[in-house]
Amino acid sequence: MLSPKIAIAVLLTVLQVAYGQKVNSLTACLVDKTLRVDCRFDNTSKTPLQYEFSLTREKQRHVLNSTMGVPEHAYRSRVNLTISQNYMALFLKDFSQKDEGIYACDLRASGIPNSFTTKNITVYKDKLQTCGVMSLLVQNTSWLLLLLLSVPLLQATNFECL
Ligand SMILES: *[C@@H]1O[C@H](CO)[C@@H](O)[C@H](O)[C@H]1NC(C)=O
Ligand SMILES: *[C@@H]1O[C@H](CO)[C@@H](O)[C@H](O)[C@H]1NC(C)=O
Ligand SMILES: *[C@@H]1O[C@H](CO)[C@@H](O)[C@H](O)[C@H]1NC(C)=O
Ligand SMILES: *[C@@H]1O[C@H](CO)[C@@H](O)[C@H](O)[C@H]1NC(C)=O
Ligand SMILES: *[C@@H]1O[C@H](CO)[C@@H](O)[C@H](O)[C@H]1NC(C)=O
Repeated sequence: MLSPKIAIAVLLTVLQVAYGQKVNSLTACLVDKTLRVDCRFDNTSKTPLQYEFSLTREKQRHVLNSTMGVPEHAYRSRVNLTISQNYMALFLKDFSQKDEGIYACDLRASGIPNSFTTKNITVYKDKLQTCGVMSLLVQNTSWLLLLLLSVPLLQATNFECL
């Protein structure tokens, strides 16, 4: 038998997953000379999502586009962004070796403490793949993820009834 303490812990973990946001994946690829950084996440938040894309190179952090901070002037003219319900794509024009570094996608739900979530990826020009069909397919797996998440939720509901 599960003790009530464990049941509550399980339930809390599930609630955190079910009601927080989470960055699921961060990938980078190249379209012509433009770098595309794809940030996929679950948006279960009832409040608007705050985000920040940044590049860290040589220990310096540069904000590329953000709702939380001010983007660096040097990048403003080269960067654009596409946002949908659970997907963000950052485009950086004229990508060169000078833009190599750690790209990070930070998310936060406004007004919800501890909702911060982040992922980062190290990008090297020589190792970049051309953006292909695969990355588009990944976008459509979110329903599968939801299904997987709902399994522990059902189990937790059972505990609650005990
Ligand atoms: C972020 O990118 C979007 C879309 O390209 C742009 O409209 C917006 O002005 C940018 N945000 C800032 C703070 O520069
Ligand atoms: C952003 O830039 C990419 C590549 O230059 C382009 O394909 C896309 O249409 C642009 N999106 C917006 C919203 O300007
Ligand atoms: C996330 O969902 C909330 C509530 O539906 C919405 O207000 C917000 O704009 C969404 N964020 C994004 C990035 O789509
Ligand atoms: C990248 O992520 C790792 C672990 O997820 C973290 O330790 C590191 O500080 C992050 N780096 C940056 C520049 O955000
Ligand atoms: C992903 O799903 C949407 C609808 O949920 C659909 O319109 C789109 O064509 C799908 N994309 C791929 C690459 O299968």
